[in-house]
Amino acid sequence: NTNPILSDGTKISDLIDLEKHEVKMRTLSDPELYALEMKKIFAKTWVFLGHETEIPNKGDFIVRDMGSDSVIVARSSDEQIHVSLNVCPHRGMKIATVDGGNAAAHVCIYHGWTFRPNGDFIAAPMEKECMHGKMRTKAELGLHKARVSIYGGLIFATWNIDGPSFEDFLGDAKWYFDTLWCRTTAGMEVLGPPQRFIIRANWKTACEQSASDGFHTLTLHRWLGEVGPYAKKPDAEGKGGDLSPEMYGVEVWTEHGHTMRCIELDRKIQRLTGRDPSSMSAEEKLTLLPPPGITREMVPELLKRFSPEQLHVMSWRPPQVGNFFPNGLFEFIYLPQPDGTVLGAMALHAYIPKGPDKLEFVNWILAEKDTPPEIKARMLRQSIQLLGTSGMVEQDDSDTWPHMTLAAKGAMSEDITLKYQALYEDDAKPADWPGPGYVGEGFTKDDTQWQWWKYWHALMTA
Ligand code: FES
Ligand code: FE
Repeated sequence: NTNPILSDGTKISDLIDLEKHEVKMRTLSDPELYALEMKKIFAKTWVFLGHETEIPNKGDFIVRDMGSDSVIVARSSDEQIHVSLNVCPHRGMKIATVDGGNAAAHVCIYHGWTFRPNGDFIAAPMEKECMHGKMRTKAELGLHKARVSIYGGLIFATWNIDGPSFEDFLGDAKWYFDTLWCRTTAGMEVLGPPQRFIIRANWKTACEQSASDGFHTLTLHRWLGEVGPYAKKPDAEGKGGDLSPEMYGVEVWTEHGHTMRCIELDRKIQRLTGRDPSSMSAEEKLTLLPPPGITREMVPELLKRFSPEQLHVMSWRPPQVGNFFPNGLFEFIYLPQPDGTVLGAMALHAYIPKGPDKLEFVNWILAEKDTPPEIKARMLRQSIQLLGTSGMVEQDDSDTWPHMTLAAKGAMSEDITLKYQALYEDDAKPADWPGPGYVGEGFTKDDTQWQWWKYWHALMTA
């Protein structure tokens, strides 16, 4: 696109070089670009807002952000979930000024206009006397409503009323995401409200990393192999844990910027059982090492729900880390325990943009409703230890983002480029890989993060 997008004449082609696979650092700090992203990305695409089990009862609501707009996510009297702009159509006051609660009606504290959980206008005080009959019809005075889609209990919404369906937006990623989010009839639940904390960083520093950057694990999270859950006793040469085997597997990217890293399980099964897993059936492997949050007793349900191809991927190289474009990250991690067993941790993050150099990190911890309570408790504790506000892994990650954001404001460094040239060959999709999408096999590379930027580019130039 050769049209200027910023007032100083900067074009999108000045910021992202599609031939060289490079992005100018200025992209991580520019306030004008940030404002454009809110309109062209967050107001156009589907955005993740929360989980339906956060609002189980009629009238329950939570207040969340769709890009730069606050929204009320509420369950109405007919049990449906609605998403409405949290702005009073009278004079623009914020309607819900708390994080959540239960309300049969939302009353604006300024002049008292009142709305149903579905956003419809109910009434205003002294309506007839004050409005002199010049009021618009009630149907015109409701809150601005978003289009909502519930997927595996996850609440997504978009302002793009006539845009692509949620199914279109997921595209080929759905084949894989179903094996994570739609595993049981009972479905999932959140284990408490999400943890939230502010980081002084541009939202894209967190989100491009979330598009399945595996390489940084070797250095930034090196402690995982030295003293953490992947550590092993030093060998004869005094060398400790080696994280590099965790970097092998399959990386998947799809049309709309969704990506995932599918990490090989065979070594874990071999270590657990002492047997060669290569000749085992999917059923046998899933029973020996069930996915995070699934117990052996729950495996027959997986066998009924999924195709042989999906079961093969789930038992061989399941997606363990990945993203929902634009700002969601999920983790379904197999965590080795000191006693030799494996525990799962399941978390979902949203990186909410709060300005060009500020984001809110929101962390939900999840389990299947059918998971036994004692396992849920262990999963919750393990997830908090590793993945949340006080967690050890993502404190490493969130150390880097502010430095990158600050550097992007430097007179010299704003022209430095982010480089994404470690790419798989075009024909890297393994012949025996049964799933859809673009697939690279081997040591973790840059394709997934580059694909994230390509969809960012597509939306910014749309
Ligand atoms: Fe809400 Fe006036 S601004 S009632
Ligand atoms: Fe990380």
